[in-house]
Amino acid sequence: MSGQRDWSSRPGGALHGSLQVPGDKSVSHRALMLASIAEGSSRIRGFLEGEDTRATAAVLTQLGVRIETPSSGERLVHGVGLHGLRGTTQPLDCGNAGTGMRLLAGLLAGQAFDSRLMGDASLSKRPMRRVTEPLASMGARIDTRDGLPPLDIHGGQPLRGIRYELPVASAQVKSALLLAGLYAAGETEIIEPHPTRDYTERMLAAFGWPVVFSPGHATLEGGHALRATDVDVPADFSSAAFFLVAASIVPGSELRLQSVGLNPRRTGLLQALQLMGADITIEREREAGGEPVGDLLVRHAPLHGIELPEAIVPDMIDELPVLFIAAAVASGRTIIRGAAELRVKESDRIATMATGLRALGAQIEETPDGAIIQGGRLGGGVIETHLDHRIAMSFAVAGLVAAAPVRINDCGHVATSFPGFLALANGCGFKLGDAG
Ligand code: S3P
Repeated sequence: MSGQRDWSSRPGGALHGSLQVPGDKSVSHRALMLASIAEGSSRIRGFLEGEDTRATAAVLTQLGVRIETPSSGERLVHGVGLHGLRGTTQPLDCGNAGTGMRLLAGLLAGQAFDSRLMGDASLSKRPMRRVTEPLASMGARIDTRDGLPPLDIHGGQPLRGIRYELPVASAQVKSALLLAGLYAAGETEIIEPHPTRDYTERMLAAFGWPVVFSPGHATLEGGHALRATDVDVPADFSSAAFFLVAASIVPGSELRLQSVGLNPRRTGLLQALQLMGADITIEREREAGGEPVGDLLVRHAPLHGIELPEAIVPDMIDELPVLFIAAAVASGRTIIRGAAELRVKESDRIATMATGLRALGAQIEETPDGAIIQGGRLGGGVIETHLDHRIAMSFAVAGLVAAAPVRINDCGHVATSFPGFLALANGCGFKLGDAG
């Protein structure tokens, strides 16, 4: 993990430019995993050079997969086939990555060897029963420390497919079970309470595995093979999100975000901002690597508060922290409900955002599954990120319109998902630097 740097963010005037944000984290993790257990070599372009995805690459290397880096943002993965991974006695370190750990738990549950997955201080506090319990009903044996990492996965367990109705909408849990399902006898069927990102399903199909899926539903059976294929990773909508809010709230701004992934299970923030009055246009909508992508043109517009429709919360689960910032500077009140999952992300994002916004003088009432935010003006203050990358970047955006500098402590984790954020942000007009 990069150093525990503190940042200071202050107003810098209108934002301008055309930006390319880094590759999608969810797609990059999955591309590495599927390419590793495919037959043949797969090239991944647009790969996210973040700490989370690099941790997953390092784990797969420890498991005997040869992964080359021909250039930055590119990986050439020499797949070892479904049964070609090799065990190691060393722990497998997923760093800060919940996606890495939960998906790998599914993948490793069906191997012949034992393995231990561990993570950093933040990941070590995140709930794992949501994956270990359904995996156990497939026949896996996984020990946790009271439901928390590290995960000790006992190999050599025959797995059988299950029909599982997810209690919470989680693409990580769905994906873990589908990956275990590759190794299971019979059919694995997943039913979601609300559709979540379907990258695992789409990518399995692209690697030649028969999978039947529709929003909220996925079925596959074990016993097939994955064939190597190249993957083009779109730019991460979740990274673009900070700039969508930044340009919306800073007068005179106009930003273009290039080739952003627009999978409908990711773009809830677009709808939310448009309901608030934002001026965002999708240009050059097209398909790349089987995913919808487009350029997003965002111009400043006065925002007003909304009652966020609960149905779109799962489609913007990672963007809610920056929506809190938009709500805090909008006119009127914003009500967010149905977002209890925020409490088990890299930090308790409802509590972290509420504490941070209050430190800047905002009126915000925390609720068990959301918040009620009264829009107004923000002052300066000190923010604790609780080692959460999206909290750091959200408050960097807040600093653009605060009456005094916003100091953001512990921003090192930004590199987990968005390496180069500081340079890209300053390049379009942020005034973001080391707090010293
Ligand atoms: C992800 C799913 C979401 C999201 C995370 C990435 C994925 O988590 O918050 O950043 O790649 O599957 P949950 O499955 O816990 O909702």
